[in-house]
Amino acid sequence: MPTIKLAKPEISFECPEGDTVLRAALRAGLGFPYECNVGSCGNCLFEIADGTVEHDRKDAPGWNERHKARNRFLGCQAHPKGDLSIKVNLREHYVAKHKPVRTTARLESIEDVTHDIREFRLKPAKATAFLPGQYALLYVPGVTGARAYSMSNITSDGAAWDFQIKKVPGGACTEKLFASVKVGDEIAIDGPFGMAYLREDAPRDILCLAGGSGLSPMVSIARGFAASAGLAGQKLHFVYGGRQVRDIAGEEFLKPLAGYGDRIHYYPVISMPEGESWNGRTGFITDAALSIFGDKLKDMEIYFAGPPAMATAVVQMMHAAKVPQPQIHYDQFY
Ligand SMILES: Cc1cc2nc3c(=O)[nH]c(=O)nc-3n(C[C@H](O)[C@H](O)[C@H](O)COP(=O)(O)OP(=O)(O)OC[C@H]3O[C@@H](n4cnc5c(N)ncnc54)[C@H](O)[C@@H]3O)c2cc1C
Ligand code: FES
Repeated sequence: MPTIKLAKPEISFECPEGDTVLRAALRAGLGFPYECNVGSCGNCLFEIADGTVEHDRKDAPGWNERHKARNRFLGCQAHPKGDLSIKVNLREHYVAKHKPVRTTARLESIEDVTHDIREFRLKPAKATAFLPGQYALLYVPGVTGARAYSMSNITSDGAAWDFQIKKVPGGACTEKLFASVKVGDEIAIDGPFGMAYLREDAPRDILCLAGGSGLSPMVSIARGFAASAGLAGQKLHFVYGGRQVRDIAGEEFLKPLAGYGDRIHYYPVISMPEGESWNGRTGFITDAALSIFGDKLKDMEIYFAGPPAMATAVVQMMHAAKVPQPQIHYDQFY
């Protein structure tokens, strides 16, 4: 098993067979920086001082010619070929609250949420706890590489992991998940990961903003909020956006929660009403959040998830609304 050495601080850890530099470091309890785990964000870059690696995605969007020229690689894609010495700035913030575990999982059920979102319940062979809002990597048979999906449930023992997944037309993984994966199938999973988890010690009302594929982690955050004694004095507002009426979801998961309608509020918004009967809000979720909360935004704890264009718009809106950075929590989707 290769050993990976860091010069500063002087630490070494082992990289089990088939593991990546990033995930072996997280399993060893180190705060190795990352975000997406799939080669897109570039947050997990490290430099090799000695040794070589095999890179999973040679075309990873987060890895360019300049990085290659400077002997820099993506931690989430790099597999050591023997012992390694590396340089990376570890940060306490990234130390896993629940160390990620590689295991297989059995698909227990598949339920429709909307016309193009389904909930997949997986039962891991090795039960592993996670925090509300975190994600896992799924290795779907027949798909090259892993995909990241956020859990929608909450758990203390990790016996079941639920994923609400939106079908992407022509998407390698989601086409497979929707067309040929069936109950009883085994899927390899790895997790939990992610920094956009529920902060139970934050003394502010919560705003969850979700669009399309971002439903799952926000449902998990809302469920975690309802179950949290530490947040009993706060409110949670859940804004969900879709293009049309048939895209709208989320309320069915919030209604059963203690405090729904009192401490927990739901606001659906559609952006492209086409001859539909809809008396609710229209526009983008950023417009809805601004018009409902205005100046109060900067006093809220904000969690959001959804497609990249939505995430960019939300970041700009929060910047303009002067929301302090430490109150903003998201793992960018790619
Ligand atoms: C942190 C995070 C959480 C997410 N949570 C959810 C969620 O809860 N629900 C949901 O519906 N979606 C979620 N996504 C999006 C999801 O991971 C997929 O991008 C989406 O389902 C489309 O996958 P696809 O294979 O069908 O589409 P494709 O278009 O085939 O692939 C989509 C993405 O996969 C990446 N990719 C391509 N090849 C490889 C490879 N060899 N190895 C690794 N990655 C590759 C590409 O960068 C591309 O962005 C999340 C993404 C991230 C990063
Ligand atoms: S590129 Fe490795 S964590 Fe995003």
